[in-house]
Amino acid sequence: MSLTASPDPPPEPGGSSRNTLRVERKSKAADGVVGLTLVHPGGRRLPDWAPGAHIDLILPSGVTRQYSLCGDRWDAYSYRIAVLREPGGRGGSAYVHDELEQGDLVDVGGPRNNFPLVPSEEYLFIAGGIGVTPLLPMIRQAELLGVDWTLLYGGRTRDSMAFTDELGAHEGRVTLAPQDECGLLALPAWLDGPPRPRTKVYACGPGRLLEAVGARCAHWPAGLLRTERFVPSVPRAPVRDEAFEVELARQATSVTVEPGVTVLEAVRTAGVNVLSSCEQGTCGTCETGVLAGRPDQRDSILDDGERAAGDCMFICVSRSCGPTLILDL
Ligand code: FES
Repeated sequence: MSLTASPDPPPEPGGSSRNTLRVERKSKAADGVVGLTLVHPGGRRLPDWAPGAHIDLILPSGVTRQYSLCGDRWDAYSYRIAVLREPGGRGGSAYVHDELEQGDLVDVGGPRNNFPLVPSEEYLFIAGGIGVTPLLPMIRQAELLGVDWTLLYGGRTRDSMAFTDELGAHEGRVTLAPQDECGLLALPAWLDGPPRPRTKVYACGPGRLLEAVGARCAHWPAGLLRTERFVPSVPRAPVRDEAFEVELARQATSVTVEPGVTVLEAVRTAGVNVLSSCEQGTCGTCETGVLAGRPDQRDSILDDGERAAGDCMFICVSRSCGPTLILDL
């Protein structure tokens, strides 16, 4: 199957960009996981990225999915991602596994980074299944910087765990824990006891793993744990159950956001097309600057400090605490 190349469109509101890339390589990375290498069809450089970044794969059906970049960030000409087949999913992974072929063109948004690696004296990386992907470039970065790191990596079975061959080069730092051999990840052994202020914990994987890691780190000082979710955390009720006004500063207009309508939907009715993807507060595509007002942050992306700063919000899920918000749109 092949699609027709289109010129790169201009950046979308919200700061995202789109490119049409070619699938240069598609290969099995583990049971149920394929790796894709994407390049520009004209051989051009790709937008730069840093460990923790993801791209949006925009499939011909209009389905958009987020995948962490797991290749070499210093290779300016290709992106590598890995896609887990999700039997109960909404068709995105099935398309990648069954229909997307080497040589095909695919639209890509981003890269975008909601999971940046911040400096630390030591890192503890915790991966569940395909959650290992954003951690691979972080491990490379830690190696380059000569920073101590360890990885605890769990999966259903050894054969279902991607990139174990690459990780084999780091014997002594990597603990592989397939569930059928070892049971659930031994989080108490890694996280209980006094907090380790020199250590930052980066965790990515299924929601129940992230909840368990969060509970084990609850007594650690704020800012030591960073997680990335591709499935939203359980939403809480909005702070405000009445309508509020959103002023679009660059349009010199405003819209009313009624209960049950998202800010994203309301803004679109005003004719402003903010790019969106997950519409669940997990991908970061709809990030929007807040110029005034207090957002009711309902996403699964920001940490406590970013939430408190209140200078940006994800308008697919977040709302307003007060009667008015002014957005940088
Ligand atoms: S569209 Fe994904 S966070 Fe809003």
